[in-house]
This record gives sequence, structure tokens and C-alpha cells, in this order.
Amino acid sequence: MRRAIIAGNWKMNKTPSEAKSLIDHIKPLVADANCEVVVCPPFVCLPAAKTVLENSNIKLGAQNMHWEESGAYTGEVSAPMLKEIGVEYVIIGHSERRQYFAETDDTVNKKVISAFSHELIPIVCVGETLEQREAGKTENVVKMQVEKGLSGLKVDEVRRLIVAYEPIWAIGTGRNATPSDANYVIKFIRDIITGLYGNVADEVRIQYGGSVNAQNAAEILAMPDIDGALVGGASLKAQDFATIVRSC
Ligand code: PGA
Repeated sequence: MRRAIIAGNWKMNKTPSEAKSLIDHIKPLVADANCEVVVCPPFVCLPAAKTVLENSNIKLGAQNMHWEESGAYTGEVSAPMLKEIGVEYVIIGHSERRQYFAETDDTVNKKVISAFSHELIPIVCVGETLEQREAGKTENVVKMQVEKGLSGLKVDEVRRLIVAYEPIWAIGTGRNATPSDANYVIKFIRDIITGLYGNVADEVRIQYGGSVNAQNAAEILAMPDIDGALVGGASLKAQDFATIVRSC
């Protein structure tokens, strides 16, 4: 049985003191959650967030990392740095990273391998553009992203993996995929992972992301193949995020 996981992707929002305050608001509202809860603030907020997350059921995630452990990569942050401050999850290959920072399936793959080798759990994002969907290419695009992004993993790593299916046209647009369309692609993703790694694919948690909010979460999360949500905008409002968590 896969345990649902709701992760908040704060993107480039909140200063460290604002992050503390938002987490303080979220904490009591999700204390009795029966799913896993993760918040992913910006890098500079992670240490402050960690201090307020002590003794809570909320885990800490980062929004990106470099695949090397250290070196001449100005402006980058590595897995050992995240690990040392208590980060457990890391979003990899978000479409905004792919679109604005030239991330590719190849760099996604390097990051996923590095994350696992430092005992971080990657939340690997895949999803098609509107143009690709309208051209009937959703399955091809997602298949390629999954095959390339997840190549070379050990079965034991696949077991811990989290994938987020985020159709790009649904991110931040208020236009979410229908629950059945999202479920269809998520089941398709699981079938690809089964083809790559066998039955361990049944243990991989696959989230939906893209305009998930307090109103539509219950319907999306009720779908049989959807194991949680990666939430952007609505994760910045304590009440809305808590409603989504409680919809599990
Ligand atoms: P959104 O973002 O919920 O604001 O659409 C989701 C995401 O980018 O992960």
C-alpha cells in the first residue's frame, strides 16, 4: 500500500522569517494528517524551516540541487549540503527549471542518481506542454522523460522514488488536468517504470501537480493511481495547504 504524499513547492517565495511563520501556521493544521507532508522552501529558508519543523510530522524538501558534491559551480548547492541541514526530499527537473534554466533529462538523471547516493529522496517532475498535448504527444514525451530521467537506478532506489506528473499547461494557470486524465497518465508512467524495473514500480509514489487547490484536491486525490500532490500556489496559504493534506 503506497502512502500518499503532499508536498508544497514554495518556488521563489518567502524570506526565512516568513517561512518560519508559515510553517508555524501549517503545523497544528496538519498534525493529524494520515499522509506524508513535505514543505520545500527556497534554499536560504531551509535552516530556519528546519528549526520550526522539529517535533512535527512535516518533512523538509529542497527545490533543486547540483549533481556534484562540491566544486567550481557558482551559485549551486549540493546534496551533502542539503543532507547536513536535515533535508530529506528534493524536487528534481521541475518544468520551470527545465524551461528557464536549461535542465535536460540528462541533468535530471545525474541529479536523481546523486540524490539517492546521498540518501535524499528525489521528487522527479515530468509533464508535457500544451502544444505537445494537443498534438497527441503526451505519452511519447512523458515516456522519454521517465526513461531518460530514471535510467541506471538500483531497484532499492526505485522503491523510494517519487515522481510528480505535472502537465506544464496546468502549472500556475488555474487549469488543472481532469482527475481522470491525470490518473490515465500516472498509470501510464507506472507502466513505464514496470517495464524498466519490474514490480517494484508498484511501490513508487506518483503525485499529480498543476493547479491543485483546496477545492479540487479531494477529487484528484480520490483517483486510484494518484498517490498525492505537488502543490505550488496553494501551498503558500496555510489553510488551503492543510485542506489539501486533509483531503488524502
Ligand atoms: P501550482 O504549481 O500548484 O501553482 O500550479 C505546481 C508546481 O509547479 O509544482
